[in-house]
Amino acid sequence: MTSQPTPRHLLRTSDIRTSQIESILNKAQVYKDMRHREILRNKTIITIFFENSTRTLSSFEIAAKRLSADVVRLDVSKSSTAKGESISDTAANLNAMNPSAIIIRHKNAGAGYYLKSQVSCPIINGGDGAHAHPTQALLDLLTLKEHFGNDLNNLKGKKIAIIGDIKNSRVANSNIELLTRFGMEVILVAPPHFIPPTTLRVSHNLRQIAKEVDVFMSLRTQTERHDKQIYGSLKDYAAQYCLTPEILGDREVIVLHPGPVHRNIDIDDEVLKDARCKVLEQVTNGVCVRMAVLEFCICA
Ligand code: NCD
Repeated sequence: MTSQPTPRHLLRTSDIRTSQIESILNKAQVYKDMRHREILRNKTIITIFFENSTRTLSSFEIAAKRLSADVVRLDVSKSSTAKGESISDTAANLNAMNPSAIIIRHKNAGAGYYLKSQVSCPIINGGDGAHAHPTQALLDLLTLKEHFGNDLNNLKGKKIAIIGDIKNSRVANSNIELLTRFGMEVILVAPPHFIPPTTLRVSHNLRQIAKEVDVFMSLRTQTERHDKQIYGSLKDYAAQYCLTPEILGDREVIVLHPGPVHRNIDIDDEVLKDARCKVLEQVTNGVCVRMAVLEFCICA
């Protein structure tokens, strides 16, 4: 009996070795030419998103199509899961159609781990609860690499402030693992109720910390993950943690945000227009990184 090779899943950043990350980013940079390629011709990729998404879903689908894959989006509101079928049965049925990969987003942390035990193709995590969002962290890493002279070694010792609802943010979790691995000093900046248990440096004062950081990564308040309101008001939050022109000053910094941005709560309108704000570059990099990730997982 021939045994099937284990599929290459991407559920969290720690699933991939540093050398593999370096090649994924190099490949992503090749894909910045936006050309269509035949690499995934005759492969079928299923996207199944149980939580809202604008960027991540479209980014994965564009990435798959640029590599010539056939993409099937499972409309969760119309799928049998909505009619009471368990994820496990949905997964078994999807698997029986022999896809080359399944990309899943789910409100429950660990959904991808469960799915992976039910199928024989790679599972790529498009975000699971507050746990992980590996492709977001990889695209953030690519944006940082490009900013710091296109060399990951230059990230060593650079300081990044991650600002906002860190406790409920899968983007923060994945970035903390990845950016510290590449030698960045991560400082968590938020009111106490948004800070998870951590050994990292913490600040509750954005204005004070702003003077020493090289990068600001702002995050949205994840109201959908709060079972009760745990902050006074978003206006009070913004008064202390919104990135304003005054906080940036004329320093050589960059601003990142995974989107969706709460304008004038996370980032001021003026800062969004500033050349130091890389939010749209992150989106462009997202497509290229996901092309490289799809190739990495499917053509292993
Ligand atoms: C993030 C997400 O869904 O985790 N957005 C994204 O994927 N671009 C962040 C968020 O929703 O705040």
